[in-house]
Amino acid sequence: MLEIAPSILAADFSRLGEQVAAVERGGARMLHVDVMDGRFVPNISIGIPVVRSLRKATTLKLDCHLMIVEPDRYTAEFIEAGAGMVSVHQEACPHLHRSLASIRDHGAAAGVAINPATPVHTLDEVLDFVDFVLVMSVNPGFGGQKFLPLALPKIRRLDEIRRERGLDFRIEVDGGVDMSNLPDLARAGCDLAVAGSSVFQPEDPAGAVEQMRHAVEQAMLVRA
Ligand code: DX5
Ligand code: ZN
Repeated sequence: MLEIAPSILAADFSRLGEQVAAVERGGARMLHVDVMDGRFVPNISIGIPVVRSLRKATTLKLDCHLMIVEPDRYTAEFIEAGAGMVSVHQEACPHLHRSLASIRDHGAAAGVAINPATPVHTLDEVLDFVDFVLVMSVNPGFGGQKFLPLALPKIRRLDEIRRERGLDFRIEVDGGVDMSNLPDLARAGCDLAVAGSSVFQPEDPAGAVEQMRHAVEQAMLVRA
């Protein structure tokens, strides 16, 4: 069943603890943490100290999405700070296999992220070594962008590949996720959906997560 990963990028940072508690009440089991360096993406967000504080404030799993160049320099520190899942971008890693192995060696789930313009087949050789694949459904760098439907065939293809090859990596989607595309994402084989604006913009983030979880359940019932 598709799980919602609220992205704190869209949260009110002055009330972060409160907002995290709200999504937890709404049934979220993980938090998505967007790390941006102003180089891989044209924006700067948050880093290791925030992960460390979150680790103390919540038991939710922390999913750190590294939108940074040379991520290998920082993955160990993110994991020590409390990240349970770490994704690096295919486009930022000339030695992708090594980068992923190092995440696992440090004890976290290893993910590879691909931008909208990056084809799924560029991951052929590493799919045996990943715990999850993150399919970007916007060009990374900003919250609140419109969902790009080109992500759907990529998710379907990854779902096919894992069946054909008997692999068990999870498929995550990130960018512009809301109630309108969630049912299609669930049916396409997506396991984790990152949601920023659609969770934190409404007055009631707990209710927003609950509604999304309900929409997923409904979508899967219709399919069954
Ligand atoms: C975009 C980030 C996303 C972002 C999603 O670069 O990777 O995780 O927070 O935010 P929404 O859901 O607002 O598109
Ligand atoms: Zn993200």
